[in-house]
Amino acid sequence: MKRPFATLGISFLILFSSCSDQKQATKTFIQENIDNATAQYTLQTNKIEESGKILNPRTINADGSIHYIPVDDWCSGFFPGSIWLIYKLTDNTKWLPLAEKYTEALDSVQYLTWHHDVGFMIGTSYLNGYRFIHKKGYKDVIIQAAKSLSTRFRPKAGVIQSWDANKGWQAERGWKCPVIIDNMMNLELLFEASKLSGDSTFYHIAVSHANKTLVNHFRANNSCYHVVDYDPETGKVLKKQTAQGYSDESSWARGQAWALYGYTMCYRYTKDKRYLHQAEKVYDFIFKNPNLPKDLIPYWDYDAPHIPNEPRDASAASCTASALYELSTYESNAKYLKTADRIMENLASPVYRAKVGTNGYFILMHSVGSLPHHTEIDVPLNYADYYFLEALMRKKEIETIH
Ligand code: GLY
Repeated sequence: MKRPFATLGISFLILFSSCSDQKQATKTFIQENIDNATAQYTLQTNKIEESGKILNPRTINADGSIHYIPVDDWCSGFFPGSIWLIYKLTDNTKWLPLAEKYTEALDSVQYLTWHHDVGFMIGTSYLNGYRFIHKKGYKDVIIQAAKSLSTRFRPKAGVIQSWDANKGWQAERGWKCPVIIDNMMNLELLFEASKLSGDSTFYHIAVSHANKTLVNHFRANNSCYHVVDYDPETGKVLKKQTAQGYSDESSWARGQAWALYGYTMCYRYTKDKRYLHQAEKVYDFIFKNPNLPKDLIPYWDYDAPHIPNEPRDASAASCTASALYELSTYESNAKYLKTADRIMENLASPVYRAKVGTNGYFILMHSVGSLPHHTEIDVPLNYADYYFLEALMRKKEIETIH
């Protein structure tokens, strides 16, 4: 009788010690990535502070110099947002004045009505600030920004118009009321503003937009179109196309990530199972896709013509990882957490994560902004970093709970 028990005891010991080894490895992984991000963003913020200006880095130029953007650029929230996330990850108050300063530089964005991205811009900056330190005044900015975004709601079509049809390169496309899948990300601002103000109008606009997108943006194979053009008077769908993908019928990688993240987030606020199921369907499309590389960092479009000789998009991967950590908290299926961890391990490898002091002081390399517009191909992007840090924060929170 003694032997089996002894064997059982040894197996238990091995299991126990491999569990605690695993826990230690996870802790080390998280800490090492926090240290790396802190080092890069210390260099980034030092350089800006030394300039005496308030600058907002988005990517790097062809000559390797840092590309700074004005406050009305759709990416202006990600840099302050990343500083908030580093503050949260480090718990070091040295980051607070920087997070506040670069957030408050976006004050005028709350009144921006000429594109839909105010949700990205205020959600990543002011909303994180409000969540983390409840700073006075931030709540009013969030509510005003939601009002501005709501001016783009077209009630007869039931959607928020993403881009103006008569401005810039969009004017050449002949759209009437273009809605892009990215717009799902802006709904978080509306849900939060509804909670903060008690005004359910924002909530209803968000739900209407999510429902219309559910019906009109997805294909039978669970991938999504980039652009759906509506008749704003009748709600009729006029066109299903792309702007940043390879072709109208192809699956632009970041668009799939926005869809996965967007519907997971909508489930957080509504508990509507249709949203959860949509997120799961997008997951299936991405992770059963034969063109998804083994390291799970997608090419910029799942149907790009020269795979495997196409650039990867690390921003799609980091956004997907962050979404999957959230999804893993709603679904008991371990695959979501496992997949998110695999993406993060690969993004944190030297293939995608830059050496400290290089890459314009951004964390991740190898993202694509818009290949059809010949801009930002195989470069760092501030939103790739933002979602990487958000994913790291979510991973840390999940590990702390368990
Ligand atoms: N929202 C614009 C983009 O994903 O490139």
